[in-house]
Amino acid sequence: MRVLGIETSCDETGVALYDSEQGLLADALYSQVALHAEFGGVVPELASRDHVRKTLPLVREVLSRAGMRLTDLDGVAYTAGPGLIGALLVGAAIGRSLAFGLGIPAVAVHHMEGHLLAPLLEPNPPAFPFVALLVSGGHTMLVEVGGIGRYRVLGDTLDDAVGEAFDKTAKMLGLGYPGGPAVAALAEQGDPQRYRFPRPMTDRPGLDFSFSGLKTFTLNTLQASDGSDRAKADIARAFEEAVADTLAIKCRRAIEQSGFSTLVVAGGVAANRRLRQRLDALGQKQGFNVRYPRLDFCTDNGAMIAYAGCQRLTAGQHEGPAFTARARWDLEALASI
Ligand code: KG4
Ligand code: ZN
Repeated sequence: MRVLGIETSCDETGVALYDSEQGLLADALYSQVALHAEFGGVVPELASRDHVRKTLPLVREVLSRAGMRLTDLDGVAYTAGPGLIGALLVGAAIGRSLAFGLGIPAVAVHHMEGHLLAPLLEPNPPAFPFVALLVSGGHTMLVEVGGIGRYRVLGDTLDDAVGEAFDKTAKMLGLGYPGGPAVAALAEQGDPQRYRFPRPMTDRPGLDFSFSGLKTFTLNTLQASDGSDRAKADIARAFEEAVADTLAIKCRRAIEQSGFSTLVVAGGVAANRRLRQRLDALGQKQGFNVRYPRLDFCTDNGAMIAYAGCQRLTAGQHEGPAFTARARWDLEALASI
């Protein structure tokens, strides 16, 4: 089964071709970062319009790189949510129409399912069951994964997502959008001993997160400092340490609670080097495996959607001729295969 995957939930247009026998055949990504940079964040209407411009050219590019034509496709998968509704509708409309025109099945994919299955695109993929830490611009979740569509949310954020906290911290420090990579780069030059930031909600049991207090703490620390480049780097470092430590503490609890021996880490923030070091060290100490997607597939991409869609289409799941997009979509409500 050869599946075209289309991702347009936020500010990246991602398209990929995945074959159930041969694996990933081609993928292409267009990032809208430059488009939104001057506004300091994603402007939804601009995002939708740019997906309209970029999706079909990327479909052509992916097919040509794989040496295939539209008629070689067996199915289409598109991200149907959660995300920006206008942006989602572009990918859903194009994906559903292509499938209709070609007379092949189409399947709606949950963006976070795409993220959490992304490590399965790597050689020697992790086996079910595992615990997934999903850390992106919109989500911070710990999920017990029994199989495809068998998800139990163990913990969620009560306020900001961790990627959002990185983005807001970047803004405060005068860094560009998206903030995660910029904060991480500045933190490299910071002194880890100068400041100690709180590890929110780690002093009580449970697996939920809260990052808005950390954001306020960052702002207060910045205002009390001399505002020098040195101080900003030290603040970035303390922020990153606090985030990595908080996530690690909760991952350890989730692994203990589930009794599973694999932790999968996915979503944009899974690209963070310090978080990876911290979780790798914890896994070694506690005796569990930690698995990530390749760096390019931590952030949004079409490959994870093509992969997730292929699993569902292979199992016989697909949509009728109508399509829907959902800004919000409960991960636990998905059908299992
Ligand atoms: O998964 P993703 O591409 O999009 C969403 O589904 O939200 O995640 C984007 C988020 C942004 O908040 C970005 O700042 C963050 O991931 N991010 C990082 C890094 N790379 C991306 N955060 C920390 N360190 C990084 N290296
Ligand atoms: Zn994402």
